[in-house]
Amino acid sequence: MQLDPTALAAASAPINQARSMPAGFYTDPAIFEEERRDIFLKHWFFLCREETLPNAGDYRTFDTPAGPIALVRGPDGKLRCFANYCRHRGSIMLEGSGNTGNRIMCPYHAWSYFSDGRLYGCPDMKDAEGFDRVEYGLVTLDLDIWAGFVFARVTKDGPALMEHLGDLPQRLASHKPQEMRHVWTTTLDVACNWKLILENAMETYHTGIVHKTTVGAQQSRTLPTTGNWICIQVISGRSIATLTDEVAPFPPIEGLDDDARQGTYFTVAFPAMQFAVSQDALWWLNCTPVAADRTLLEVGGCFPADRLDLPDFEPRAAAYYDRWERVAKEDVGILEKQQRALASALYRPGPLSWRDDMVQAMGLWVVDRLNLPR
Ligand code: FES
Ligand SMILES: [Fe+2]
Repeated sequence: MQLDPTALAAASAPINQARSMPAGFYTDPAIFEEERRDIFLKHWFFLCREETLPNAGDYRTFDTPAGPIALVRGPDGKLRCFANYCRHRGSIMLEGSGNTGNRIMCPYHAWSYFSDGRLYGCPDMKDAEGFDRVEYGLVTLDLDIWAGFVFARVTKDGPALMEHLGDLPQRLASHKPQEMRHVWTTTLDVACNWKLILENAMETYHTGIVHKTTVGAQQSRTLPTTGNWICIQVISGRSIATLTDEVAPFPPIEGLDDDARQGTYFTVAFPAMQFAVSQDALWWLNCTPVAADRTLLEVGGCFPADRLDLPDFEPRAAAYYDRWERVAKEDVGILEKQQRALASALYRPGPLSWRDDMVQAMGLWVVDRLNLPR
């Protein structure tokens, strides 16, 4: 499938002349398959916070564009990521999350694996010619961790996570993300393309309308980045991570730099992870594409570790969870309307506003990874 080159050229024009991407960019299963192959199987994707698997044997499973995978903490304290299937005849082995103990046992014919992935037991295989159990450990994925955020990648080639992220760690350094703790998650099943979710998160053009009764109208500025990420900052002297007009329930993070004090960073760490960082908290929106018109959106929330020790931590934190969930659901409502319209045979791409500059940047990063002409 090729998208119309004229439409792609119009989507790539300077922002004051640019149009939206053609509908097929968001609706065509062939484009979705190209994204899977050329983007999701080739780049780092976010799994979870490291502290959510504190003990040896702790595991969590994920359905990813590469298929089912499992993250497991080994007896040596190291996290490892495996394809979540058995090397005999391919049953899924782990479900949900929990602790595997010393061994991962296949529920089909009881092959078992050490939690570092090596094959341990394989009953009734002694007559299999040329079978060497050393060759049948679990299939591994590369893993890399920045400031407690665990990412995996299918391909063994390409830049390390830090290189991929460019100057994102620097921009977020004064929030001390390595000292954050994950406290809350909600997952929404959204009937829209994954890119629409991230584009929406990178503009404040819609906030006074879609979020009229919650966060309301906002102003933002685009910040320069190097590496595979983009960034806007919503300008506000007080945290926008809660809906109150009063002071935020938690104090600002100590030692924020001058830029960070001015508002909330909204980012896309390509391909599909968003960090949103206010003066007092961090949350993420992580998109897992399921189909061209379906995405699982995980919203996760973190606070500086010492806030968790406050005796009234939970009632204070509840104001943040409420805001994140309400605002995410408002966005989902409008995005599902947009997806329905994009499926129309009558759809024609419309012009962009200067406030859509990072919407355009999001789309163009994808276009370039798919090697589409523009
Ligand atoms: S499929 Fe796992 S033991 Fe047979
Ligand atoms: Fe929004």
